Amino acid sequence: MASPRSSALLALRSQSSSSQQSLQESSSTSQSSSIDPFKLAQSDLDNLFIDIRKELNTVMPELKEISSYYFDGQGKAIRPLIIILTARAFNFHLSGKSELLNSQKRVSLIIEMIHTASLIHDDVIDSADTRRGKPSVNVLWGQKKSIFAGDFVISRGSQMLARLNSTVLISLLSEAIIDLVLGEFMQMGSKEDVNERFAHYIQKTFKKTASLIAYTCKSVSYLSGANEELQEAAFQYGRNLGIAFQLVDDLLDFVSNQAELGKPAANDLKLGLATAPVLFACEKFPELNEMIIRRFSEPGDVEKAYDAVMKSDGIYHTRMLARKHADEAARHIAQLADSPEKQALMVLCDMVLNRKK
Ligand code: FPP
Ligand code: MG
Repeated sequence: MASPRSSALLALRSQSSSSQQSLQESSSTSQSSSIDPFKLAQSDLDNLFIDIRKELNTVMPELKEISSYYFDGQGKAIRPLIIILTARAFNFHLSGKSELLNSQKRVSLIIEMIHTASLIHDDVIDSADTRRGKPSVNVLWGQKKSIFAGDFVISRGSQMLARLNSTVLISLLSEAIIDLVLGEFMQMGSKEDVNERFAHYIQKTFKKTASLIAYTCKSVSYLSGANEELQEAAFQYGRNLGIAFQLVDDLLDFVSNQAELGKPAANDLKLGLATAPVLFACEKFPELNEMIIRRFSEPGDVEKAYDAVMKSDGIYHTRMLARKHADEAARHIAQLADSPEKQALMVLCDMVLNRKK
């Protein structure tokens, strides 16, 4: 299977050049259309993959090869980008200087390592064939070695974290790693009770997608010297941005075609997953509830559910909810002193909302 999340991040990046247009179409989150977040953080991102590969040294050449495989410079490093901009925006707010601290730079490497370790495991779980346009790790080396490689990447990331000598950072990022596991686990089940289902979905979305960003934003704000209130603002920025990103991902699964998305349309339904557009559509088409419980497993379920979503206002409500979270993310960052990095964080809120694939 292709790697939709990676394609989505790629799309986000390619969109950065047209961020001006996106901004004009978007909500009120940003006024600074000239800022390109990717250009602004470029110098801090230049050696990211080289630095990570150095950390993956081991006397076992094959383990080094497998665990370095996804750090090939093709990934767009959206998470390190968010972290670098957050760190610099908070540094400027608190000290008038936006330069990145060495510890913050290390955190930007660690977030990419945790994320990539989870993708290596995810590709085994999903039996993925490709990621970022090349054969997936499990296709080349098989499941067992891939799992070990994922374990190795996360262990090296944990070592780097330990070297930062901060129990605060260790406990924040450990929480994010636990959430990744819980989020994947939650995705394997759904709530029978209709009233609990939406809360379950949002909680799953937070844990699987947003938690790592939220805790890492909080970590770099802590390193800036932020007080608890400001750390909470950093956390809420990451949390809301991450949830908005996933909601848009979930609606694009219905409205983008296969070529745009890099995966079959309605892929989530085919995987048995009921995302926001379906959950909203249930109000108009209660017959969806039975299909959700059996994870769209009977012949015709996927087609019927797809049609119901398209005839409902599920897509509209999902977009509105994503907008609410993006606006909320921007609101939390608005209190910082004005800087190009702060504006770039605002621009990211719009880019997440307006991406088309
Ligand atoms: C991508 O999902 C997967 C994740 C964001 C998290 C995966 C987490 C785990 C496997 C558990 C934790 C593992 C570690 C090492 C901490 P997707 O299949 O929706 O996205 P994709 O399209 O990119 O594959
Ligand atoms: Mg996957």
